[in-house]
Amino acid sequence: MKVKHGKAKLSTAHFAGVQKGHGKNMAEIKFFGSADMPLEMHKVRIIQKLNLLPIDERLESITEAGNNTFLLKNRNVFLDMLTDSGTNAMSDRQLAAMMTADDSYAGSETFYRLEAKIGEIFGTKHFLPAHQGRACESLISQVLITGENQIVPMNYHFTTAKAHISRFGAEVVEIIIDEGLRAKSDNPFKGNINTDALKELIKTRKKDIAFVRIEAGTNLIGGQPVSMANIKEVSGICRDAGIIVVLDASLLADNLYFIKTREEAYKDVPIRDIMRELGQLADITYFSARKLGCARGGGICVQRDDLMMKFRELIPLFEGFLTYGGMSVREMEALTVGLEETLDMDMIAQAPQFISHMVSELSALDIPVVTPAGGLGCHLNAKEILSHIPQEKYPAGALAAALYIVSGIRGMERGTLSEQREPDGTEPLANMELLRLALPRRVFTLSQVKYTIDRINWLYQNRELVGGLKFTEEPKILRFFFGRLAPDSDWQEKLVKKFKEDFGNSL
Ligand SMILES: Cc1ncc(COP(=O)(O)O)c(C=O)c1O
Repeated sequence: MKVKHGKAKLSTAHFAGVQKGHGKNMAEIKFFGSADMPLEMHKVRIIQKLNLLPIDERLESITEAGNNTFLLKNRNVFLDMLTDSGTNAMSDRQLAAMMTADDSYAGSETFYRLEAKIGEIFGTKHFLPAHQGRACESLISQVLITGENQIVPMNYHFTTAKAHISRFGAEVVEIIIDEGLRAKSDNPFKGNINTDALKELIKTRKKDIAFVRIEAGTNLIGGQPVSMANIKEVSGICRDAGIIVVLDASLLADNLYFIKTREEAYKDVPIRDIMRELGQLADITYFSARKLGCARGGGICVQRDDLMMKFRELIPLFEGFLTYGGMSVREMEALTVGLEETLDMDMIAQAPQFISHMVSELSALDIPVVTPAGGLGCHLNAKEILSHIPQEKYPAGALAAALYIVSGIRGMERGTLSEQREPDGTEPLANMELLRLALPRRVFTLSQVKYTIDRINWLYQNRELVGGLKFTEEPKILRFFFGRLAPDSDWQEKLVKKFKEDFGNSL
């Protein structure tokens, strides 16, 4: 659909809240009597009761879940740090906007509001709605992968992006800078693409490159951002070579925050201008609205008319009519507001600042975590924490199961388990073995973060008790979602015993 570059019908003031002092954010608040810490610039008005099971029941739950945190029932989880996908807290304005949704199959006013907002913030010409991020990845792969032996260079893969690219017969080639794969570093933009490697690939295999994918806020390697300078350089190289650039903007909110706070040239540039500049550097920008915009859904923003025509044919076939693409109109209204709120530093700073707090507290306890603090969540370095467990026994998966047992906290394995076996059965070992503890926006309080740090600390002191895992049921595709595993010894019972010795009757 063609985007008219006008303002969305509801005014910016309606969304952003015009208040005195707006423009300052929580990062700038200093404390008098204690060390600086993140201070929420919102208050909680709706709550959900939580349940912390006794440790014996937590052991039963993780056993029933096949030691896979994806298979835990949420009723048995205390703090759900699995993901921020569809779990960010929505704002009062988002909820209010949902009531204004125009419920029609075709030509919904809701769609035109969303389309106009996307055109306004990314400066892109066309918007095609889809039901979530992976649907966009499927459609992009289908449209752009057209030949044999094609490759898709990118900073780093995301699970579903790689699965779809492989499904259409192309190969992912990762060309992230070396620092990106080092858990400990002080490089502020570990998600950057190695542009020399990109030039070399263009020199040797230009005709095989289906497209170049840039993932803002690299999910699998610690939520590490990409700099604007790097995106500009990659875009320039690709434009000169006639290669399509695809930007995965799912984790863009965090990446915007890091461009603003870590990239000197952008510290005084409004978020709105940074976002628009990014939108101009890619031929296709897609996103999961479960992440960007704190709603549920997704979409593809396209500059070129010919590409839009190709996507347009597929949307009604796989997603839904062109004015909803599989999304509920209520979520689309919430997304329109959520995207506008992404331009507010108070909104986009909250998660990175909580993550930074968690990373510095854990580092002070000498617990190995990915540094510098990135977006999305705090990432524990399981390769180092459980250095006695070989990668073939899934240390990050074992750490996820162990942390759930000792705390009721659900994290997500981001290591070898999240990889896929080769067709010949060999298992590629992941570059990093991480346990990701996602901090969905505005969901957890600082005391809950402190409880998390406390239980991680206890587990770290008792890390030699943790053993490995082995598959009892291993799906061929995306095995981390629903594969089942078992401990390789009675280590979980020993962990429970030690917990009871140290904590007595405490949960
Ligand atoms: C970087 C990135 N791209 C794509 C996706 C896929 O989005 P969805 O979960 O909406 O399918 C995700 C989801 O976590 C993601 O983090």
